[in-house]
Amino acid sequence: MTEHPTALPHAAGTRAARDAGGLHLVTLAERPDLVDALDDHNGAPWPEFMLHDPVVNANWHHLEEEFAGWQLMLLEPDGRIAAAAACAPLAWDGTSGGLPDGWDDQFTRTVEQIRSGAATDTLGALQIVVADRWRGAGLAGRMVAAMMSAGRAAGHRALIACVRPTDKHRYPLVPIERYARWTRADGEPLDAWIRLHVRLGGRIDRPAPRSMTMRGTVADWERWTGLTFPESGEYVVPFATRTVSIDREADTGTYFDENVWVVHDLS
Ligand SMILES: CC(C)(COP(=O)(O)OP(=O)(O)OC[C@H]1O[C@@H](n2cnc3c(N)ncnc32)[C@H](O)[C@@H]1OP(=O)(O)O)[C@@H](O)C(=O)NCCC(=O)NCCS
Repeated sequence: MTEHPTALPHAAGTRAARDAGGLHLVTLAERPDLVDALDDHNGAPWPEFMLHDPVVNANWHHLEEEFAGWQLMLLEPDGRIAAAAACAPLAWDGTSGGLPDGWDDQFTRTVEQIRSGAATDTLGALQIVVADRWRGAGLAGRMVAAMMSAGRAAGHRALIACVRPTDKHRYPLVPIERYARWTRADGEPLDAWIRLHVRLGGRIDRPAPRSMTMRGTVADWERWTGLTFPESGEYVVPFATRTVSIDREADTGTYFDENVWVVHDLS
Protein backbone atom coordinates (compact mmCIF):
# COMPACT_ATOMS: atom_id res chain seq x y z
CA MET A 1 0.00 0.00 0.00
CA THR A 2 1.59 3.22 -1.06
CA GLU A 3 -1.10 5.81 -1.18
CA HIS A 4 -3.54 7.64 1.02
CA PRO A 5 -6.66 9.29 -0.38
CA THR A 6 -5.57 12.71 0.82
CA ALA A 7 -2.56 12.70 -1.54
CA LEU A 8 -4.15 14.29 -4.59
CA PRO A 9 -2.85 15.01 -8.05
CA HIS A 10 -2.36 18.67 -8.91
CA ALA A 11 -2.78 19.30 -12.61
CA ALA A 12 -2.84 23.06 -13.00
CA GLY A 13 0.22 25.23 -13.21
CA THR A 14 2.51 22.61 -14.72
CA ARG A 15 3.91 23.00 -18.23
CA ALA A 16 2.76 19.50 -19.12
CA ALA A 17 -0.80 20.44 -18.20
CA ARG A 18 -0.98 22.91 -21.10
CA ASP A 19 -1.06 21.52 -24.62
CA ALA A 20 -0.51 22.97 -28.04
CA GLY A 21 -4.25 23.16 -28.72
CA GLY A 22 -4.72 25.38 -25.69
CA LEU A 23 -6.61 22.76 -23.70
CA HIS A 24 -5.73 22.91 -20.05
CA LEU A 25 -5.96 20.05 -17.52
CA VAL A 26 -7.26 20.95 -14.06
CA THR A 27 -8.81 19.10 -11.15
CA LEU A 28 -12.09 19.94 -9.45
CA ALA A 29 -10.09 20.62 -6.27
CA GLU A 30 -8.28 23.36 -8.17
CA ARG A 31 -11.48 24.70 -9.79
CA PRO A 32 -14.34 24.10 -7.31
CA ASP A 33 -16.26 26.89 -9.06
CA LEU A 34 -16.82 24.45 -11.95
CA VAL A 35 -18.79 21.91 -9.88
CA ASP A 36 -22.16 22.71 -11.50
CA ALA A 37 -20.70 22.88 -15.01
CA LEU A 38 -19.01 19.51 -14.39
CA ASP A 39 -22.29 18.00 -13.17
CA ASP A 40 -24.06 19.19 -16.33
CA HIS A 41 -21.21 17.92 -18.52
CA ASN A 42 -21.13 14.50 -16.84
CA GLY A 43 -24.90 13.99 -16.95
CA ALA A 44 -25.43 15.13 -20.53
CA PRO A 45 -24.76 11.98 -22.62
CA TRP A 46 -26.71 9.42 -20.62
CA PRO A 47 -30.17 8.03 -21.37
CA GLU A 48 -32.61 8.69 -18.52
CA PHE A 49 -32.56 5.12 -17.16
CA MET A 50 -28.78 5.38 -16.57
CA LEU A 51 -29.44 8.21 -14.11
CA HIS A 52 -31.34 5.90 -11.72
CA ASP A 53 -28.56 3.77 -10.25
CA PRO A 54 -28.96 4.09 -6.44
CA VAL A 55 -25.20 3.59 -5.90
CA VAL A 56 -24.45 6.58 -8.12
CA ASN A 57 -27.14 8.73 -6.59
CA ALA A 58 -26.08 7.97 -3.02
CA ASN A 59 -22.36 8.39 -3.57
CA TRP A 60 -21.58 10.77 -6.42
CA HIS A 61 -21.26 13.71 -4.02
CA HIS A 62 -18.12 12.11 -2.58
CA LEU A 63 -16.40 12.74 -5.91
CA GLU A 64 -17.09 16.44 -5.48
CA GLU A 65 -15.96 16.41 -1.84
CA GLU A 66 -13.24 14.01 -0.60
CA PHE A 67 -12.25 13.00 -4.15
CA ALA A 68 -12.37 16.43 -5.83
CA GLY A 69 -8.64 16.19 -6.55
CA TRP A 70 -9.28 13.12 -8.68
CA GLN A 71 -11.90 14.71 -10.96
CA LEU A 72 -9.98 15.76 -14.06
CA MET A 73 -11.21 18.34 -16.54
CA LEU A 74 -9.74 19.43 -19.84
CA LEU A 75 -10.74 23.06 -20.30
CA GLU A 76 -10.94 25.13 -23.44
CA PRO A 77 -9.27 28.57 -23.36
CA ASP A 78 -12.67 30.16 -22.64
CA GLY A 79 -13.13 27.86 -19.61
CA ARG A 80 -15.67 25.46 -21.13
CA ILE A 81 -15.22 21.76 -20.32
CA ALA A 82 -14.05 19.79 -23.37
CA ALA A 83 -13.64 16.48 -21.54
CA ALA A 84 -13.85 15.12 -18.01
CA ALA A 85 -12.63 11.98 -16.26
CA ALA A 86 -14.07 10.83 -12.93
CA CYS A 87 -11.90 8.54 -10.85
CA ALA A 88 -11.10 7.72 -7.23
CA PRO A 89 -8.59 5.50 -5.45
CA LEU A 90 -9.30 2.17 -3.80
CA ALA A 91 -7.46 -0.88 -2.50
CA TRP A 92 -7.09 -3.87 -4.83
CA ASP A 93 -5.00 -7.03 -4.35
CA GLY A 94 -3.93 -7.16 -8.00
CA THR A 95 -5.84 -10.37 -8.78
CA SER A 96 -8.71 -10.94 -11.16
CA GLY A 97 -10.79 -12.45 -8.36
CA GLY A 98 -10.04 -9.42 -6.19
CA LEU A 99 -11.55 -6.99 -8.68
CA PRO A 100 -14.93 -5.61 -7.60
CA ASP A 101 -18.01 -7.35 -9.04
CA GLY A 102 -18.58 -4.34 -11.25
CA TRP A 103 -18.88 -0.57 -11.40
CA ASP A 104 -21.35 -0.30 -8.47
CA ASP A 105 -19.17 -2.50 -6.27
CA GLN A 106 -16.05 -0.51 -7.22
CA PHE A 107 -17.68 2.78 -6.23
CA THR A 108 -19.12 1.27 -3.02
CA ARG A 109 -15.71 -0.09 -1.99
CA THR A 110 -14.06 3.27 -2.71
CA VAL A 111 -16.49 5.12 -0.46
CA GLU A 112 -16.33 2.49 2.31
CA GLN A 113 -12.54 2.56 2.23
CA ILE A 114 -12.27 6.31 2.57
CA ARG A 115 -14.73 6.15 5.49
CA SER A 116 -12.60 3.50 7.22
CA GLY A 117 -9.33 5.29 6.41
CA ALA A 118 -7.99 2.24 4.53
CA ALA A 119 -4.79 2.72 2.54
CA THR A 120 -5.35 2.61 -1.21
CA ASP A 121 -3.03 1.47 -3.97
CA THR A 122 -5.09 1.56 -7.17
CA LEU A 123 -6.92 4.21 -9.15
CA GLY A 124 -10.47 3.30 -10.18
CA ALA A 125 -11.78 4.97 -13.34
CA LEU A 126 -15.49 5.75 -13.10
CA GLN A 127 -16.37 7.66 -16.25
CA ILE A 128 -15.06 9.70 -19.15
CA VAL A 129 -17.30 12.14 -20.97
CA VAL A 130 -16.18 14.13 -24.00
CA ALA A 131 -18.31 17.13 -25.02
CA ASP A 132 -20.23 16.54 -28.28
CA ARG A 133 -18.26 19.23 -30.12
CA TRP A 134 -14.97 17.42 -29.28
CA ARG A 135 -15.97 13.84 -30.15
CA GLY A 136 -13.58 11.96 -32.40
CA ALA A 137 -10.65 14.27 -31.68
CA GLY A 138 -8.77 11.81 -29.48
CA LEU A 139 -9.63 13.47 -26.15
CA ALA A 140 -10.90 10.23 -24.60
CA GLY A 141 -7.46 8.70 -24.98
CA ARG A 142 -5.92 11.80 -23.46
CA MET A 143 -8.20 11.51 -20.43
CA VAL A 144 -7.28 7.84 -19.94
CA ALA A 145 -3.62 8.87 -20.17
CA ALA A 146 -4.24 11.70 -17.69
CA MET A 147 -5.76 9.24 -15.20
CA MET A 148 -2.81 6.87 -15.68
CA SER A 149 -0.39 9.68 -15.10
CA ALA A 150 -2.22 10.86 -11.94
CA GLY A 151 -2.31 7.28 -10.64
CA ARG A 152 1.36 6.75 -11.38
CA ALA A 153 2.29 10.03 -9.66
CA ALA A 154 0.44 8.82 -6.56
CA GLY A 155 2.31 5.49 -6.61
CA HIS A 156 -0.69 3.37 -7.56
CA ARG A 157 -0.16 -0.13 -8.95
CA ALA A 158 -2.82 0.12 -11.67
CA LEU A 159 -5.67 2.01 -13.22
CA ILE A 160 -8.70 -0.28 -13.24
CA ALA A 161 -11.74 0.51 -15.36
CA CYS A 162 -15.10 -1.24 -15.51
CA VAL A 163 -15.57 -0.12 -19.10
CA ARG A 164 -19.05 0.48 -20.53
CA PRO A 165 -18.56 -0.62 -24.16
CA THR A 166 -19.89 2.19 -26.35
CA ASP A 167 -21.22 -0.10 -29.10
CA LYS A 168 -22.73 -2.82 -26.87
CA HIS A 169 -26.20 -1.24 -27.04
CA ARG A 170 -26.31 -2.27 -30.70
CA TYR A 171 -26.04 -5.93 -29.63
CA PRO A 172 -28.31 -6.13 -26.56
CA LEU A 173 -29.10 -9.84 -27.09
CA VAL A 174 -25.46 -10.92 -26.99
CA PRO A 175 -24.00 -11.74 -23.55
CA ILE A 176 -21.07 -9.53 -22.58
CA GLU A 177 -18.91 -12.64 -22.09
CA ARG A 178 -19.03 -13.17 -25.87
CA TYR A 179 -19.17 -9.53 -26.96
CA ALA A 180 -16.00 -8.66 -25.01
CA ARG A 181 -14.06 -11.17 -27.13
CA TRP A 182 -15.27 -9.97 -30.52
CA THR A 183 -12.49 -8.61 -32.72
CA ARG A 184 -12.22 -6.90 -36.12
CA ALA A 185 -10.35 -8.37 -39.07
CA ASP A 186 -7.19 -6.59 -37.88
CA GLY A 187 -7.39 -8.38 -34.52
CA GLU A 188 -8.30 -5.28 -32.48
CA PRO A 189 -11.41 -5.35 -30.26
CA LEU A 190 -14.62 -4.65 -32.21
CA ASP A 191 -15.93 -2.25 -29.59
CA ALA A 192 -14.43 1.22 -30.05
CA TRP A 193 -14.15 1.98 -26.34
CA ILE A 194 -12.59 -1.37 -25.39
CA ARG A 195 -10.31 -0.93 -28.42
CA LEU A 196 -9.08 2.45 -27.21
CA HIS A 197 -8.26 1.07 -23.75
CA VAL A 198 -6.39 -1.87 -25.29
CA ARG A 199 -4.46 0.45 -27.63
CA LEU A 200 -3.36 2.39 -24.58
CA GLY A 201 -1.94 -0.78 -23.04
CA GLY A 202 -5.00 -1.98 -21.14
CA ARG A 203 -5.57 -5.70 -20.59
CA ILE A 204 -9.10 -7.09 -20.83
CA ASP A 205 -9.56 -8.96 -17.58
CA ARG A 206 -13.11 -10.29 -17.26
CA PRO A 207 -16.69 -9.37 -18.08
CA ALA A 208 -18.90 -7.69 -15.48
CA PRO A 209 -22.42 -8.79 -16.50
CA ARG A 210 -24.10 -7.11 -13.50
CA SER A 211 -21.92 -4.04 -13.27
CA MET A 212 -24.65 -1.51 -12.48
CA THR A 213 -28.24 -2.19 -11.41
CA MET A 214 -31.26 -0.04 -12.15
CA ARG A 215 -34.63 -1.04 -10.72
CA GLY A 216 -37.96 0.73 -10.91
CA THR A 217 -41.67 0.19 -11.24
CA VAL A 218 -43.11 -0.51 -14.68
CA ALA A 219 -44.34 3.11 -14.73
CA ASP A 220 -40.79 4.31 -13.92
CA TRP A 221 -39.38 2.35 -16.84
CA GLU A 222 -42.11 3.61 -19.17
CA ARG A 223 -41.26 7.17 -18.13
CA TRP A 224 -37.49 6.62 -18.39
CA THR A 225 -37.64 5.03 -21.84
CA GLY A 226 -40.75 6.44 -23.53
CA LEU A 227 -41.79 2.84 -24.27
CA THR A 228 -44.87 0.89 -23.19
CA PHE A 229 -44.45 -2.52 -21.56
CA PRO A 230 -47.84 -4.27 -21.86
CA GLU A 231 -46.58 -7.76 -20.88
CA SER A 232 -43.94 -9.28 -18.64
CA GLY A 233 -40.77 -10.26 -20.47
CA GLU A 234 -37.43 -9.04 -21.86
CA TYR A 235 -37.43 -5.74 -23.75
CA VAL A 236 -34.81 -4.12 -25.97
CA VAL A 237 -34.40 -0.52 -24.86
CA PRO A 238 -32.41 2.09 -26.83
CA PHE A 239 -28.88 2.60 -25.47
CA ALA A 240 -29.16 -0.27 -22.98
CA THR A 241 -26.29 -2.76 -23.11
CA ARG A 242 -28.70 -5.64 -22.36
CA THR A 243 -32.43 -6.22 -22.26
CA VAL A 244 -34.64 -4.86 -19.47
CA SER A 245 -36.70 -7.46 -17.56
CA ILE A 246 -40.26 -6.35 -16.95
CA ASP A 247 -42.40 -8.18 -14.40
CA ARG A 248 -45.90 -6.74 -14.51
CA GLU A 249 -47.19 -8.94 -11.67
CA ALA A 250 -44.47 -7.68 -9.31
CA ASP A 251 -44.62 -4.20 -10.91
CA THR A 252 -40.82 -4.07 -11.39
CA GLY A 253 -38.36 -3.49 -14.18
CA THR A 254 -34.76 -4.59 -13.68
CA TYR A 255 -31.72 -3.81 -15.77
CA PHE A 256 -28.07 -4.78 -15.36
CA ASP A 257 -25.59 -2.63 -17.26
CA GLU A 258 -22.96 -4.90 -18.82
CA ASN A 259 -19.33 -3.77 -18.60
CA VAL A 260 -15.85 -5.23 -19.04
CA TRP A 261 -12.94 -5.01 -16.61
CA VAL A 262 -9.80 -3.51 -18.13
CA VAL A 263 -6.57 -3.20 -16.16
CA HIS A 264 -3.83 -0.70 -17.00
CA ASP A 265 -0.65 -1.71 -15.18
CA LEU A 266 1.14 1.37 -13.84
CA SER A 267 4.19 -0.36 -12.38
C1 LIG B 1 -16.80 7.32 -25.53
C2 LIG B 1 -16.21 8.74 -25.65
C3 LIG B 1 -15.61 9.12 -24.30
C4 LIG B 1 -15.15 8.71 -26.74
O1 LIG B 1 -14.60 10.01 -26.80
P1 LIG B 1 -13.79 10.56 -28.10
O2 LIG B 1 -12.82 11.60 -27.63
O3 LIG B 1 -14.76 10.95 -29.12
O4 LIG B 1 -13.02 9.28 -28.55
P2 LIG B 1 -11.70 9.25 -29.42
O5 LIG B 1 -11.68 10.41 -30.38
O6 LIG B 1 -10.52 9.05 -28.54
O7 LIG B 1 -11.98 7.93 -30.23
C5 LIG B 1 -11.74 6.67 -29.66
C6 LIG B 1 -12.38 5.61 -30.49
O8 LIG B 1 -13.77 5.58 -30.20
C7 LIG B 1 -14.53 5.82 -31.39
N1 LIG B 1 -15.66 6.59 -30.90
C8 LIG B 1 -15.63 7.86 -30.46
N2 LIG B 1 -16.84 8.18 -30.00
C9 LIG B 1 -17.64 7.09 -30.14
C10 LIG B 1 -19.00 6.81 -29.82
N3 LIG B 1 -19.79 7.70 -29.24
N4 LIG B 1 -19.48 5.59 -30.12
C11 LIG B 1 -18.72 4.67 -30.69
N5 LIG B 1 -17.42 4.88 -30.99
C12 LIG B 1 -16.88 6.08 -30.72
C13 LIG B 1 -13.60 6.48 -32.35
O9 LIG B 1 -13.99 6.19 -33.68
C14 LIG B 1 -12.26 5.84 -31.96
O10 LIG B 1 -12.10 4.57 -32.54
P3 LIG B 1 -11.05 4.34 -33.74
O11 LIG B 1 -9.90 5.29 -33.54
O12 LIG B 1 -10.63 2.93 -33.62
O13 LIG B 1 -11.85 4.63 -34.95
C15 LIG B 1 -17.30 9.76 -26.07
O14 LIG B 1 -17.97 9.29 -27.18
C16 LIG B 1 -18.31 10.04 -24.97
O15 LIG B 1 -18.12 10.93 -24.13
N6 LIG B 1 -19.42 9.25 -24.96
C17 LIG B 1 -20.48 9.41 -23.95
C18 LIG B 1 -20.04 8.89 -22.59
C19 LIG B 1 -19.44 7.50 -22.65
O16 LIG B 1 -20.00 6.58 -23.24
N7 LIG B 1 -18.27 7.33 -22.00
C20 LIG B 1 -17.58 6.05 -21.97
C21 LIG B 1 -18.05 5.17 -20.88
S1 LIG B 1 -17.79 5.89 -19.28
